[in-house]
This record gives sequence, structure tokens and C-alpha cells, in this order.
Amino acid sequence: MTFAITQNCCTDAACVAVCPVNCIHPAPGERDFGTTEMLYIDPAACIDCGACADACPVDAVHPAEELPRAQQQYAGINAAYFERSGRPVPQGAADHGPNFHAWGTPHFERVLPADFAPLRVAIVGTGPAGMYAAEDLLLHTRSEVTLVDRLPAPGGLIRYGVAPDHPATKRIGETFARFHTHPRVHMHLGLDVGTHVTAAELAAHHDAVVYAVGASTDRRLGIPGEDLPGSIAATTFVAWYNAHPEVAPDAVALSADRVVVVGNGNVALDVARILVSDPGALADTAVAGHALGELRRSKVREVVLLGRRGPEHAACSGTELLALKSLPGVGLVVDDHDPRIGAAVDSSEATEKARLFRDLPREAVDWSAPPDTSGQRPRIVFRFHSEPLEMRGDEQIRSVRATGGAGAQEIAAGLALRAIGYRGVPQAGLPFDEGSGTVPHERGRVTGRPGTYVVGWIKRGPSGGIGANRRCAAETVGTLLDDAVAGRLSAPTAGASAFRRLARRRR
Ligand SMILES: Cc1cc2nc3c(=O)[nH]c(=O)nc-3n(C[C@H](O)[C@H](O)[C@H](O)COP(=O)(O)OP(=O)(O)OC[C@H]3O[C@@H](n4cnc5c(N)ncnc54)[C@H](O)[C@@H]3O)c2cc1C
Ligand SMILES: NC(=O)c1ccc[n+]([C@@H]2O[C@H](COP(=O)([O-])OP(=O)(O)OC[C@H]3O[C@@H](n4cnc5c(N)ncnc54)[C@H](OP(=O)(O)O)[C@@H]3O)[C@@H](O)[C@H]2O)c1
Ligand code: SF4
Ligand code: SF4
Repeated sequence: MTFAITQNCCTDAACVAVCPVNCIHPAPGERDFGTTEMLYIDPAACIDCGACADACPVDAVHPAEELPRAQQQYAGINAAYFERSGRPVPQGAADHGPNFHAWGTPHFERVLPADFAPLRVAIVGTGPAGMYAAEDLLLHTRSEVTLVDRLPAPGGLIRYGVAPDHPATKRIGETFARFHTHPRVHMHLGLDVGTHVTAAELAAHHDAVVYAVGASTDRRLGIPGEDLPGSIAATTFVAWYNAHPEVAPDAVALSADRVVVVGNGNVALDVARILVSDPGALADTAVAGHALGELRRSKVREVVLLGRRGPEHAACSGTELLALKSLPGVGLVVDDHDPRIGAAVDSSEATEKARLFRDLPREAVDWSAPPDTSGQRPRIVFRFHSEPLEMRGDEQIRSVRATGGAGAQEIAAGLALRAIGYRGVPQAGLPFDEGSGTVPHERGRVTGRPGTYVVGWIKRGPSGGIGANRRCAAETVGTLLDDAVAGRLSAPTAGASAFRRLARRRR
């Protein structure tokens, strides 16, 4: 028997550190780590010890022979990675046996001078980036950490973004929560930096401040009708089904039979999947009660995913697409409106992504007709090479006009969800790059603001799964500690208890 990594993998590499035979790849420092969708276990080297399954925070590792039906293909997917990429060249193999792969010292460790004085660091944001930075500081230094979040519950997008039907992924919140009660941590929830306390006040009470504030708003299409009622950003829809306190329970009405989703990234797949899932299957998840009620009343029969490029460039990950294909009671179709689609999918040189669409039915959809509501199965239509030109309607959106192989098409729809990406917002007291929606920095150090750092989506832009923030945090914390060792940080002018009093007063 061997173990296999499955769909939920968020590439945080926690398993790599515990594997006694180093058979999980790509590992930190190896080519492809950082761009790969998931990590893979080499079945030829795995000795079946189970340490990786114990270490995985999102329950992504299972014995290959015990994989549930929908995940069984992952045994082959793990093995295929090594067939395709070859096995890592062992360094010192003669000394350590054929399975040894020397990938160096653990990635997140660093050596500090023996007299390194503990720091007092504020971290703004309790999403993955903030929590990985906190974990790094707490585990590798004796620093004190002040965690601040503007929302009443910690977790960032783990709590308010990750889809409720991904309970294993949401469980990483429990791993982070262990640090909320760490003896060297003080957490302040419902405290907005920029509203309740200023950046200068926060800086005055700490040696360093790390901003892990994410990317909380949506990108705009810039087309006519974008603001019509019924045209909603996916950020709002996602927050609605996750019970975000700032989105009203009645913000979404599912009274239309067809929904157009612009974009085909993982967020687009999340919202499409929630729209067509059996509400009964969502009832035991963390889905908001108001959303579950609306999903039970939903009239939605068809969700159209508009991708402006071809199937070979679909922005979703292969793992999420495979999961969608296994969703019970849902039909998937590719709109065959453009000859480039068949060419990309059927070609003997089709990319791995394009090949994933090969077994889906292709049909020339008649958009002038309403969706077929007679069958029991709702369906998802992938429409590639199609960009929205205009949202049409009077008091409510009625259709989306979109480009297509045979010219622009009018797609009747009563709801449009714009899943074209998140966007960072300016943070008071910090520089901001309007183009990228990020804070300018050098290896995490905010440009022109000594003692101030960024991590996560506000640093890199809104892309990458949970695990990407771990590597990102390692870089930022490394820079912060380098600055501390080099004497580039100013000591706080007020104490920790003074900050706690200030926070209590202001909230
Ligand atoms: C809808 C959605 C689903 C996703 N699902 C998955 C998934 O299944 N698997 C996966 O690997 N990745 C997933 N991701 C990606 C993952 O969520 C991100 O990589 C990650 O959350 C980014 O972390 P972050 O800490 O930078 O930002 P966030 O998680 O957004 O955290 C930012 C935090 O900062 C706080 N904050 C902001 N401004 C202030 C302020 N002024 N004062 C105080 N606090 C503030 C916010 O309240 C928030 O808690 C998903 C992303 C989205 C959008
Ligand atoms: N389960 C998971 O692991 C999970 C779940 C959710 C999110 N995430 C991660 O979170 C990150 C954000 O995801 P996301 O889906 O918001 O972003 P994304 O992956 O960047 O996808 C954005 C989509 O919008 C399209 N788009 C952008 N601008 C457009 C425009 N002007 N007109 C038409 N289409 C446009 C993009 O097309 P182009 O590709 O042509 O640019 C793409 O299809 C990703 O890294 C994702 O993997 C992970
Ligand atoms: S089961 Fe053990 S040997 Fe196999 S991949 Fe996991 S940690 Fe490594
Ligand atoms: S989520 Fe992390 S620990 Fe789990 S399999 Fe993926 S890389 Fe390994």
C-alpha cells in the first residue's frame, strides 16, 4: 500500500517536513514548487508510515487503497507525476539509499544570533498570511505577537471565502486557532486599523508591524450595465454564503433560471458549484442559514461560465475541475460555438488542462431559448473564447451580451456574478500601487516605511492558495528578522498593556 495526496492539497508542504524518506515532491526549493497545483507522493518510494496524513492540516492525504470513489483517480495522478517528471536526483544517494532525496534543511528554519532580543510585532489580519507569519515568529523566536482583525471572527478568507462544501480546507482554521491562544499572543478582534487605531499608533507600540490585510474588494469589468441590480461581484456572493457580517442576508435572490458567471478561475467554480449543488448536501456544512434557505428556494437550472480564453487556459485548477466533474446530479457541457475549442481539446498535443474537458459533451447552445427546466439535473455550461460586452436590463439584469465564434450573443440571464478576481484596497499610512492593488515592497519590507511589512495577497496580489502564503510569510518574516539583527527597527515608545488599553477604549 502507499499513500496519495488528493484534491484539497493547498501546497503548504507540512507533509514534506515529516516524511522520513523524502518522497513527497515538488518540495520547497525544487523546481515547480510554488507553481504546482498540489504535491505528489512517489508510490515507488513511500514506506506507508502515515506521518504525512497526520501532519496534513486539510485532510488531503489518504492511503491509496482507501480513497473514496470520487478521489480514486488521485492514486494514478500521484504516480503519473513521477512518470512525467522523473524522480528527483538523489544527492548523496550512495550514502543514504536509493530513496533518499536531499532537499536541504527545513525551509522555515533560520539561525538567529544567540543574544537575539524578543520583538513585539503587530500583525494586522488573521487570514492565512497573517497566521503563517505569526506561527513563524512564535515558533522560531521568543517574540510577542499582537493579532488584530477588523472582523468579529478570525480566519480571513478561511472563514469568509473558502466554500462551505470544502470542510477539510476550512479545517486549517483549527490549525491557525491554536496560535490565537498562544501565551505570547494577544488578539484584538473587531479592531480596524485605519478606523479604530492609526498605523502610527500601532507602530508606536511595536517594534514592527506586518500588514496581512488581503484583497477585500472586487475587480471591475468596466462594461455598460455592470452596476444593474442582479449583477453582483463574486466577492459579495461568496461572503453571502459564508455569513460575512457586512453582507445582508437578502443580498442575493436566486429567482432566475440562468446565471452567468464571468471568469473560470477557482472562485468561479466555487460559486457555480454552490449554485447547482443539492442544498441537502450543504445542510451539514458551515453554509449561512439564510443562503441555505435561498438555495432551497432557488430556481437556478443553468450556470454559464464565461472564459475569455480557450479551455487550455481555463484559470481553475485541474483538481477543482475534477471535483466538479464528480459532483452528483449535475451535468457539465462545453458550448461548441468556436472551432478553436474542439481544436484545443481534441488535439494530440492538447495541454493537460484542455484534456480535462475532452470527456465533456460539446453542444452548440441556443442562447435565444431559455434553459431546459424539464430535467431534474441542473447544468453548468463552459463557454470559452467569450468576453462580456454589456449587461442589459432596466430595473434588473435581463441578459449578458458576450463575444463568440459566430459573433456576439445575447445570453438571457437574471443574475450575473463577476468572478474576475479580488483586489487590494489602500491601507491608511501605507503606499499603494493602483495598478496591481498591492503595497510596494522589497521582500516584504514596505518601500519607504522602515519597520513596516506586508504579506499575503496585499503583498503579492490576489492569487495563490493557502499554502502560497506560508512561503510568502517565510520571506517577509526573514526580512523583518534581518532588519532586527541589523538594528534597523525602532524600539516601541509605549508598552503592550498600553496598546491593549488603547484598543479597548477605541473599539
Ligand atoms: C472565495 C475564495 C475561496 C478560496 N478557497 C481556497 C481553497 O479552497 N483552498 C486554497 O488553498 N485557497 C483558497 N483560496 C485562497 C486563499 O483563501 C488565499 O490564498 C488567502 O486567504 C489569502 O490570505 P491573506 O491572509 O492574504 O488574506 P485574507 O484571508 O483575506 O485575510 C485578510 C484579513 O485581514 C483583515 N483586515 C483587512 N483589513 C484590515 C484592517 N484595516 N484592520 C484589521 N484587519 C484587517 C481581514 O478582516 C481578514 O481577516 C480562496 C480564495 C477565495 C477568494
Ligand atoms: N479550491 C481552491 O483551491 C481555491 C478556491 C478559490 C480560490 N482559490 C485561489 O484564489 C485565487 C483567486 O481566484 P479567482 O478565481 O478569484 O482568480 P483567478 O484565478 O485569477 O481567475 C480570474 C478569472 O477571471 C477572468 N478575468 C479576469 N479579468 C477579466 C475580464 N476583464 N474579463 C473577463 N474575464 C476576466 C480570468 O481570465 P484570464 O485567465 O483570461 O485572465 C480568470 O478566468 C486563485 O489563485 C485561486 O486558485 C483557490
Ligand atoms: S506515508 Fe510516510 S513515507 Fe509515505 S509519503 Fe507519507 S510520510 Fe512519506
Ligand atoms: S495540504 Fe500540505 S500537508 Fe496536506 S498534502 Fe498538501 S502539501 Fe502536504
